Amino acid sequence: MRALNSILVTGGAGFIGSNFIRHLFASSTFSGRVINLDKLTYAGNPENLEDVLEAFGGKRYFFEKADICDPEAVRAILRRYDIDTVVHFAAESHVDRSIFGPGDFIQTNIVGTFLLLEAVRELWGSRQDVLFHHVSTDEVFGSLEEGRFSEDSPYRPRSPYSASKASSDHLARAYFHTYGLPVTVSNCSNNYGPYQFPEKLIPLIILNMTEGKPLPIYGEGKNVRDWLYVEDHAEAVWQILKEGQAGETYAIGGDNEWENLRLVETLCDTMARLTGRDAKELRGLIHFVQDRPGHDLRYAIDCAKIKRTLGWSQGMAFERGLEATILWYLEHKEWVARVRSGDYRSWVERNYGRREASQ
Ligand code: NAD
Ligand code: TYD
Repeated sequence: MRALNSILVTGGAGFIGSNFIRHLFASSTFSGRVINLDKLTYAGNPENLEDVLEAFGGKRYFFEKADICDPEAVRAILRRYDIDTVVHFAAESHVDRSIFGPGDFIQTNIVGTFLLLEAVRELWGSRQDVLFHHVSTDEVFGSLEEGRFSEDSPYRPRSPYSASKASSDHLARAYFHTYGLPVTVSNCSNNYGPYQFPEKLIPLIILNMTEGKPLPIYGEGKNVRDWLYVEDHAEAVWQILKEGQAGETYAIGGDNEWENLRLVETLCDTMARLTGRDAKELRGLIHFVQDRPGHDLRYAIDCAKIKRTLGWSQGMAFERGLEATILWYLEHKEWVARVRSGDYRSWVERNYGRREASQ
């Protein structure tokens, strides 16, 4: 196992990054420290890690508000914390937003990843035990007609989001092949679970159900996604950091394909079972809306390689994961209200003031 003493997590205030950091601190095999570098866009909320801050803040957990597109700030953080491992989650992540405004996706996902790779390459000049893990998506492979995506699937991105992630994947691998920088890449299917920003399908449907609002389904609801509980993704990334081989790519998925309409109906039935509400009434909220332009029909991942080589497997059954997710949103109404109103920013100011990374 590699030494993992000082891990820089980019985008650690977002959905998967915050779950990953919590997972690290819960892991008996991690004894190092975590530096969470996040710009705090609309999707970044350091309140997601309030419990971690309380338990480990200033000792094994540090937060740095910074932009991966700011090379000076990134270099200063890499030096100050003697970083040996970088896990790169930071990105603009929502397909619909990329359709209406691709600029930030090009800047953060492509330019930001390039600048981060450059900073890590410089660091690597002074210490050899560096690893850069790049977190990516199965959406880079495009729309699937048959079979499943694997590490060898050709790249065919079709949205500005997936095109920007594809570009960053190519850059990460190019730094391995050209410069020898120790890089690993993972391409994961759709995640769900606590702390997901409620613009994504599952939290949006849960919250609309609780408020009696229409449940919007794009097109005919026949698009298929392969859903994975976020903590299973976090564990996969942790195993790659510990045992993954530089230069390798790992496909991660749920072995869990669902048509959108069937998934939303299942969410209605699960909500009804958990709360005693009427399932038919909830299903009656389903509302078909205009389809997303260029909407990929199907994603599905063959994750045999990571299972075979690293011994990873999914731990959360889908039914149980949906129940846990619904209950989490029902029990975190204040989190939801603050995220929706942008009010968590006052929490940020209170806890972090206006300190910049270089100060
Ligand atoms: P998210 O939108 O919830 O979080 C992104 C985080 O990155 C936020 O905290 C945001 O503040 C931060 N960020 C954005 N731009 C930044 C910048 N310029 N500098 C520093 N920080 C910045 O996203 P997520 O769903 O947690 O996804 C995390 C990563 O996982 C992304 O790279 C995404 O492509 C990938 N991924 C996501 C899924 C999924 O289902 N959500 C699936 C596979 C892969
Ligand atoms: P989303 O959570 O945005 O993830 P992605 O587009 O990255 O897969 O959407 C998941 C699926 O749900 C996708 O096929 C689009 C669809 N969808 C809806 O039908 N209605 C919605 O309101 C949203 C947000 C998504």
